[in-house]
Amino acid sequence: MAMNGTAAHEGLAAAGELPALVGAAVALARESGFAYSSLPEHGELLRVLARGVGPGVIGETGTGCGVGLAWLASAAHPNARIISVEHDAERASRVAELFHDVPQVGILRGDWLELRGYGPFDLLALDGGGQGKGTDPAIEPAEWLRPGGLVVMDDFAPLSGWPPLFQGEVDEARRHWLDHPRMRATQVNVTPEWSALLAAYVA
Ligand SMILES: C[S@@+](CC[C@H](N)C(=O)[O-])C[C@H]1O[C@@H](n2cnc3c(N)ncnc32)[C@H](O)[C@@H]1O
Repeated sequence: MAMNGTAAHEGLAAAGELPALVGAAVALARESGFAYSSLPEHGELLRVLARGVGPGVIGETGTGCGVGLAWLASAAHPNARIISVEHDAERASRVAELFHDVPQVGILRGDWLELRGYGPFDLLALDGGGQGKGTDPAIEPAEWLRPGGLVVMDDFAPLSGWPPLFQGEVDEARRHWLDHPRMRATQVNVTPEWSALLAAYVA
């Protein structure tokens, strides 16, 4: 998620530089007045990660208008399965229509916790629940991930010291992942200002 993720795609869409499905999801986000799509640079990371899964299972919490999902789907193996959950009924139904002809993709309308039943996941993009930010609980890796499975989360400021800080306070959500005894985690800067967190589950 990013405050300007939808707008950040628009120049690329106009230049025809987006995968067709991503362009369609960006158009839906724009039409719906939904600003909080992932940044295109994060989308590129999602595409690389999806490619690495092969014929496995990919999950996403927080479908939004399907922009991140479209990046995932644009590189997913024909036999991969991608399930995304969104609690906003209107958005879930519009995105389900958009992905109607993409056989790997399924959209769930509901709370993010309902996604757990579709795992264990090889790749899990947490963008609408499960990150452990604020009062939201973090996923329990053993219940959600296959050994070696990867969690990806966006929207962190690049980390340059320890402990991680957010607005002057210790960033407990990020520390949770970077210190987790069952996860091997790092950050990847997708722009100079924004980083993603990647964490692999080791059983
Ligand atoms: C940051 S946006 C998602 C952006 C999208 N993943 C993308 O890459 O463009 C977060 C989405 O999570 C959804 N959401 C928030 N809380 C949720 C919950 N408890 N269960 C399911 N979806 C939730 C919001 O409605 C919103 O559409």
